[in-house]
Amino acid sequence: MKDRLLQIEKAALSEILSIKNKEAALEFKNRHLGRKGELTSLTKELGSIPPAERPAVGELINTIRGKIEERVNHLLTGFLNAEREQRLRAEKVDVTLPGRYLPLGKKHPITQVMDEVVKIFSGMGFAAAEGPEIETDYYNFEALNIPKDHPARDMQDTFYISGDYLLRTHTSPVQIRVMQAQKPPLRVIAPGKVYRRDSDVTHTPMFHQVEGFMVDESITFGDLKGVLSAFLHSLFREDMPIRFRPSFFPFTEPSAEVDIQCVICNGKGCRVCKGSGWLEVLGAGMIHPMVFKAVNYDAEKFTGFAFGIGIERIAMLKFGIDDIRLFFENDVRFLRQF
Ligand code: PHE
Repeated sequence: MKDRLLQIEKAALSEILSIKNKEAALEFKNRHLGRKGELTSLTKELGSIPPAERPAVGELINTIRGKIEERVNHLLTGFLNAEREQRLRAEKVDVTLPGRYLPLGKKHPITQVMDEVVKIFSGMGFAAAEGPEIETDYYNFEALNIPKDHPARDMQDTFYISGDYLLRTHTSPVQIRVMQAQKPPLRVIAPGKVYRRDSDVTHTPMFHQVEGFMVDESITFGDLKGVLSAFLHSLFREDMPIRFRPSFFPFTEPSAEVDIQCVICNGKGCRVCKGSGWLEVLGAGMIHPMVFKAVNYDAEKFTGFAFGIGIERIAMLKFGIDDIRLFFENDVRFLRQF
């Protein structure tokens, strides 16, 4: 038995010298030290030798086992270290390399201006509302006191779809929808797309408006002036000269158009302002009693003002752009500048 053990030890220790990799080392370890290994089965045979010899043989088995285990573990540690070393080398990151450039998207300039307009009015307590872009003749015209023979209804200006349907030509129909659904006091802002058959350097068939209106008991033209002045001074600059000029809209009475001083020539008169020194930025007025009648509001009890802002126009003035079509070509060289 002892001879067999020494034999095994010698064979094992010489075999170890030829092990070249982790897999072979694990296989070796398992074959010699595992539950089905030679040393394990010899331990089981201990019972068949004379009791007096058992302790010595048992100890010898353990010594051999310990020696083999130590050697093979040492070998394994070496293999595992080498493996990890290699993996770390492969995963090495060069922190001195320049970063990769990822193009950053931004909001479209029209969206930026819309957001800013809505934000200024939210600050004054206006709540946002929306309406459909496909409207009926009633909401777009009739309820807004635009009679059947009004030029705004002309096929030249409006995209008619079929029957009663059309693409809304302004955001004013949202006034009607909100007033039908809610009772005063109201402070509402309604941003959205509108459509007109028009196309040149200052007109596109689709553009954006922000409608606003306020209805309560005893709202005056003074409130309209105060709110719109605060808005324009916040949007452009605190000391921007502005003026209210009498105008006409079927759905407001009295009506006004609001101008800011020409941003190109600072009021001296130039090609852009056609020599006047002023640029129109919005239409407004006191809501017409006929409009209140259409939504069953008591025009004796309630008054209100409304206004409509053309967003492309504001964006052109703010950013100094002279061709509205640039907004819709989506040339990234243009869009990146905002
Ligand atoms: N709807 C008008 C337009 O598109 C603007 C406007 C809105 C005027 C509200 C007065 C009151 O030109």
